[in-house]
Amino acid sequence: MIKKYIFGKPMNTGAVSQKLSAEEGSLPVFGTDISENKINLTCPLSERDIVYGLGEANRGINKRGWHYEAKNSDDPVHTENKTALYGAHNFVAVSGCEHFGIFIDTPAYIHFDIGYSDPDVMSIDIHSPDAVIYFIAADDISTVVREFRQLIGKSYIPPLWAFGYQQSRWGYQSAEDIRNVVENHRSAGIPLDAVYMDIDYMDGYRDFTVDNVKFPEFDKFVSEMKENNIHLVPIIDAGVKIDENYDVYREGVENGYFCKRADGSNFVAGVWPGRTHFPDFFMPEARKWFGEKYRRLTDLGIDGFWNDMNEPAIFYSEEGLKEAMEHVDRLKGENLGIDSFFELTGTVAGISNNVKDYDHFYHTVDGEKIPHSKLHNLYGMNMTKAAAEAFERFDPTKRMLMLSRSSYIGMHRYSGIWTGDNCSWWSHLLLNIKQMPSLNMCGFLYTGADVGGFGNDTTPDLLMRWLEFAVFTPLMRNHSAAGTRDQEVYRFRNSAAFANIIRLRYRLIPYLYSEFVKSVLNDDMYFRPLAFDFPDDSIAVGVEDQLMVGNSVMIAPVYEQNARGRIVYLPEEMLRVKYLPDGSYETRVMPKGHSYVSAELDEVVFFIRKGHFIPLADSANSTAELNMKKLTLLGYLDYKANYLMYSDDGESKDYYDQNNYITLTVIKDNRDISVRSSDPDVELAADIK
Ligand code: GLC
Repeated sequence: MIKKYIFGKPMNTGAVSQKLSAEEGSLPVFGTDISENKINLTCPLSERDIVYGLGEANRGINKRGWHYEAKNSDDPVHTENKTALYGAHNFVAVSGCEHFGIFIDTPAYIHFDIGYSDPDVMSIDIHSPDAVIYFIAADDISTVVREFRQLIGKSYIPPLWAFGYQQSRWGYQSAEDIRNVVENHRSAGIPLDAVYMDIDYMDGYRDFTVDNVKFPEFDKFVSEMKENNIHLVPIIDAGVKIDENYDVYREGVENGYFCKRADGSNFVAGVWPGRTHFPDFFMPEARKWFGEKYRRLTDLGIDGFWNDMNEPAIFYSEEGLKEAMEHVDRLKGENLGIDSFFELTGTVAGISNNVKDYDHFYHTVDGEKIPHSKLHNLYGMNMTKAAAEAFERFDPTKRMLMLSRSSYIGMHRYSGIWTGDNCSWWSHLLLNIKQMPSLNMCGFLYTGADVGGFGNDTTPDLLMRWLEFAVFTPLMRNHSAAGTRDQEVYRFRNSAAFANIIRLRYRLIPYLYSEFVKSVLNDDMYFRPLAFDFPDDSIAVGVEDQLMVGNSVMIAPVYEQNARGRIVYLPEEMLRVKYLPDGSYETRVMPKGHSYVSAELDEVVFFIRKGHFIPLADSANSTAELNMKKLTLLGYLDYKANYLMYSDDGESKDYYDQNNYITLTVIKDNRDISVRSSDPDVELAADIK
């Protein structure tokens, strides 16, 4: 049951795709207080209540005990004290005696105090009188989330190759660098489907340009890579360089497509290229114009992009810079003491991503000028919408890979996200595990973190453990920051062990891809906390470091340095699969309850539910070489089980075509195992306990 309530005069953010009529009267469960242009919602939390949601937020799966902000932020240091990351995903769901969720659809700043000030109260402060609020109640938490997902529409599905292993680094300077990366993967037998091109590929950080000295004959390079089954994925940044000799800049100025100051001049923000203008993605014409520019790269054979710095990130504004310089001038010659010294450092540090700048520029929405501060959380989504709308125009039948850093609910229909600039910290591997189900609740299914960590130096053991988890994340991309230790897996002594883990990913793709697409089509979560599948198990509901992956698998990743295994909670008897460094695996039935499970650094452990089996392919060097018609069915059952496998051409959008569904059947009769496929072309083997 979903109920819609309208407060004030909210704008249409584009988050919701279902049309509902608004209710009269007051919001159920929540106390509502409207004052001083704010809406405050409060709800008591009982001892048993778990609070889920908030998508790409910091901290746990259960959000209780901390506070969070809807304020899309370019913050590269995701320490525990942080309250805002790159997305505004304003959906929270409470599960306890009752099960309900609330979605606050507004671009405004929101403060979610989830038992932080008072452990027994959730208090939500919306800094605007205008919002559409959806209240969802159901008999269980899974239904609450599914109804919410139905409300916001089907999630984005990338091409199949985006389920392959992807390599990225800020610092690949030339075609030669990228060739080396590919060659090193291929020669070491490390599968690879994509290499990302970070800002260094551009001509002076100008969007939609390619430096033709470092990347001569780029179109031929793209084809050369394609022949090797490698997709190149260039980055596109929000800021357009101010440069009279740059056509994108000139066109934007001539047509009035950039964000304006109050006096009508174009707002200037410093980003990678120095001074830039931000396209006003709220104007349909500007979206169309910017979106068309992607064609420059798609025409050369590019079929994937990542949109970045689109919160938008602002190193400085001219206004902020001037004010800070004046301040610093005033402090010149002073004897800097306790206050004035920190005033100096604070003034300089405060130039970047200063919220004061959000009042220095305006968007045009339906002809009306609206300050950025009122729309901030929607900016990245609209940039990505510009790209997605363009891809629809270019070829409505073909899927493109699209990732965005900044997001708002609704953008999940156009694109995936990566979780931004994490660090090479063990705690960020754990954060990655916890963020995945919360993101799935909010519609973001094609997602993953920078594997190995973006900032700081990685270590081979961290990278390996991270990959062992990322084997299961739809986006499996190794990415690192300029200046950090090299992080491609072949850089490390035990590259064969890395190769083996990535080869496991390819073996699992028939299952992972099938579960992913079915989750999208059924508005289900691909990653779920154990509580969703075992709500009556009082231990399972509290587990934060194990996840269900699709309908048949549970994972319990190792996320501590030097650990040689971990305690795992099994809510029921399951089949433990231990994937070994020689590419073979061992299986063992494990009882319900807590067990210590050993997992050496180069071993991957996962669990298959009783009564289930999963399809495994033979490994391959790329998804293009993967044979989805030769499968081994691995599982544990008493008598009979079916698996509905989704498998398509990997690039078109006919998701409902019945030919994409194959029913696989295993029948166990004492020791005799027989297997069947509804598609006679599928060759089957079985490994059933
Ligand atoms: C931002 C992105 C990061 C990228 C860097 C340089 O920090 O989040 O992924 O490598 O910019 O473009």
